[in-house]
Amino acid sequence: MNTYLVGGAIRDEMLGLKGADKDWVVVGSTPEAMISLGYTPVGKDFPVFLHPKSGQEYALARTERKSGKGYTGFVVHAAPDVTLEEDLQRRDLTINAMARADDGTLIDPYGGARDLDARLLRHVSPAFSEDPLRILRVARFAARFHAQGFEVAAETMTLMRDMSQSGELQALTPERIWQEMHKTLQHDDCPVFFEVLRECGALKEIMPELDRLFGIPQPPQWHPEVDTGVHTLMVLKQACLLTQETDVRFAALVHDLGKGETPAEMWPSHRGHETLGLKPIKALCQRLKVPRSASELACLTSEFHTHVHRALSLKPSTLLKTLEKLDAFRRPERFQQFLLACKADSRGRTGFEQIPYLQANHFQAALDASKGIAVPE
Ligand code: CTP
Repeated sequence: MNTYLVGGAIRDEMLGLKGADKDWVVVGSTPEAMISLGYTPVGKDFPVFLHPKSGQEYALARTERKSGKGYTGFVVHAAPDVTLEEDLQRRDLTINAMARADDGTLIDPYGGARDLDARLLRHVSPAFSEDPLRILRVARFAARFHAQGFEVAAETMTLMRDMSQSGELQALTPERIWQEMHKTLQHDDCPVFFEVLRECGALKEIMPELDRLFGIPQPPQWHPEVDTGVHTLMVLKQACLLTQETDVRFAALVHDLGKGETPAEMWPSHRGHETLGLKPIKALCQRLKVPRSASELACLTSEFHTHVHRALSLKPSTLLKTLEKLDAFRRPERFQQFLLACKADSRGRTGFEQIPYLQANHFQAALDASKGIAVPE
């Protein structure tokens, strides 16, 4: 029996990053042998065990073959004769398909180190397409490693496009989609996730409300960037610069979804926006089972952000009166999150510096007001 460190831990270590969970593969063992050594079985569908002391995951080397649609049919073969190379071959990306032996030797049969150097996210084999979640994983890695210069390999993008067209994404559960999205929102370059999903055609399958925004023009006097989808990702980027809170980032992402449902002539001067915005946001949050704190802030932001923009052109005391009408105003933490999302929206416009009513001191006044600090005339 031989054990190897595999997957994300090797990848992150080679990138000089710390903190990845350690996953191990065991070659030449059986479930019975693992249990007799004190490991606890935890895998429902796969032979995975927890180490009695470290609690780390040890999986028996296995092959997998898909035999049905969606997540229905999977033939898993875990036996002492399955080799490490066979186990690595079933994995998604070459950079995730490397292993390290006890003596420190790197085992890299699919060119993971080469692709790490070339900053490429490349699939290991055509079996990549057996799991549609991998499309979201690739988009997440593209966002996570964007600053390091990683891109999706052209052939992987082609495969992801074919998979998106096949309808297989419909097999993903809402929990899995939200989990990947939520993990991604923690990365400062999370807009890249949505760009990659859009490029391969997955965005319109899993978040059609967002996909629809691309190609919808904005009034050019307020949004020189013009396209609502482009604006949305600019707002998300600004939210990432302002805060690490994923609830605020999510609110920024979905604040304009209503514009995908409504003809442009119906939103002159943004009036009425509040009633237009909520339907698609609520639909999306329900479908993806978005936790309440995130969906509540998203609705609040979409409903009231234009009020705040208008209010910001007012004197601080009048602004305070306007803001007091908001329920969230009485909950300082919530209110500050709301203001951050509004601020991201203001800054997510090209040339926002030229718009006088978006001056930062007004936001500061609003923030001070939310803490109960007296606002000067
Ligand atoms: N894996 C896969 N397909 C999936 C999920 C996981 O091929 N749908 C493989 C990958 O090789 C991955 C390994 O299983 O490296 C472990 O999965 P996980 O711990 O979820 O991913 P990490 O690569 O460790 O990255 P992260 O922790 O960021 O998810």
